[in-house]
Amino acid sequence: MCYNPGEIEPRAVQVDTLGMEACTVGPNWKYVPAFRDCLESSVPIPTSTLDALKKYGQTHLVQFWEELNPKQQAQLLEQIEQVDFPLMERLAKLRSEQKTAAESPAEMSVRAQSPEQLIRLPKTQRDRDQQFIAAEAGEELLRAGKVGAILVAGGQGSRLGFNDPKGMFPIGPVTNRTLFQILCEQVLARSKRVGIPICYFIMTSEATHKPTVAFFEEHRYFGLSEDQVFFFQQASLPAMEDSSSRLLLERKDRIATSPDGHGGMLRALQRHGMLDVMRDRGIEHLYYHQVDNPTAIVCDPVLLGHHLQSGSELTTKVVAKVSPEEKMGVLVTVDGQTQIIEYSDLPIEQSKRLQADGTMVFWAGNTAIHVFQRTFIERLLGGELSLPFHIAHKKVPTIDAKGEPVNPTQPNANKFEQFIFDALPQAKLALVVEGKREREFNPVKNAEGSDSPATCRAALTAIARDWIESAGGTVEKNVPVEVSPLFALDREELHVKLEPGQVFKKPTVLA
Ligand code: UD1
Repeated sequence: MCYNPGEIEPRAVQVDTLGMEACTVGPNWKYVPAFRDCLESSVPIPTSTLDALKKYGQTHLVQFWEELNPKQQAQLLEQIEQVDFPLMERLAKLRSEQKTAAESPAEMSVRAQSPEQLIRLPKTQRDRDQQFIAAEAGEELLRAGKVGAILVAGGQGSRLGFNDPKGMFPIGPVTNRTLFQILCEQVLARSKRVGIPICYFIMTSEATHKPTVAFFEEHRYFGLSEDQVFFFQQASLPAMEDSSSRLLLERKDRIATSPDGHGGMLRALQRHGMLDVMRDRGIEHLYYHQVDNPTAIVCDPVLLGHHLQSGSELTTKVVAKVSPEEKMGVLVTVDGQTQIIEYSDLPIEQSKRLQADGTMVFWAGNTAIHVFQRTFIERLLGGELSLPFHIAHKKVPTIDAKGEPVNPTQPNANKFEQFIFDALPQAKLALVVEGKREREFNPVKNAEGSDSPATCRAALTAIARDWIESAGGTVEKNVPVEVSPLFALDREELHVKLEPGQVFKKPTVLA
């Protein structure tokens, strides 16, 4: 028989002297007999859980209870106890209200203008001087230990057709270095340059957490020290049937869930004590980036400097979109506020709208590189502000009343997500800074075509070639070259390290 002594907060499975095993199976059910005993006897549904299921009309989640073995029962119970039923009720209400919402992003796009709080790429000597001063200020902030980096790596590479966490994708054009390795080497090289270890906060999800942590351990954190890398797992939210507020079962013993979006980062940072770590270590600003872009300049001093000098609470790097159809969110100003309209929300006729000078209104593509003031994140979490939920209509595999699998051919359910960039209009000041596209934005998203491994590898070679040639070297045609961030973080560093006149005739890595 399982019971609940109540006070113990186990972090992992532990066995005490009485042979009792602590299992993390929810707030009311944390201490059960050793697992082997549980396998022999059926786990009862705690009364509090049953009451909650009845209250929120979700008792179907345990309709196959008697058919499950004790291990499956314990797993299902754990999942149920993690569901925030009041939140799901609010989301069901939100869904019906949204059908009659006052203004959709598409309607809002009609009033949108190009971003106003904007620093464009330098064109004049004065611009270049200002960029230099910003870089100095950013370096100083890094040297003072006031900057941390956040990597969001909770999504799955489904578009890429890669089953492991996307960060494990091999991308180095010569060495097949993974996305994780290139990004970690950037953090390591930047830490060495500024003389202080930069903390790297890596957000995972239910699907990516274990393999990501194992991969880092296997590769000894790619040279970073263990106490500068922090993994924190974002939460999952259940999928909801589109015709009712019933949550869907994926199997008899499992609720269908998906990650709560990169906006879930805010709750996850708090839940896992990451903000305490940041405060303890004196981190005031956070460079945020996505796992799919190895050419993001991690902890870019120029971006940090502009962010600091302007007093911005949330700064975003943009690059010029290649076409109105390109799948990038766009930075805009609406009614004086900076915000992002996601590509899926921007009607094609709007995306082509021109300004008086003939240039595109929606030119400023979101690279998903941001810098946050830590206090802004705290304000967002303090209840004063909040992020909206986005509802996606998706095909979610489920089971029918007999427990038989159902693979829908049409969308049958809603998934709920928060987007981190919805914080933008809530910032007291939000700055937009333009970056060089070919240098800074080369994501791996699709298996083929644009934003694919082939385009990203070509970009990594082009950057390396450009640096080598500007340092007086030569790379023969069609020869892939790769520069490890540990050899050079930028063109200037490579210039100092490369012997002039070197000719690269075969694939080479500078490491
Ligand atoms: C995203 C942006 C888009 C931007 C583009 C730039 C959104 C909604 N849109 O599009 O405006 O122009 O990147 O490359 O983000 N992630 C999590 N947890 C989640 C969901 C996503 O960690 O729950 C992470 C992924 O691991 C990935 C990143 O967020 O690193 C982007 O997610 P993805 O869904 O691929 O966004 P895009 O459609 O590419």
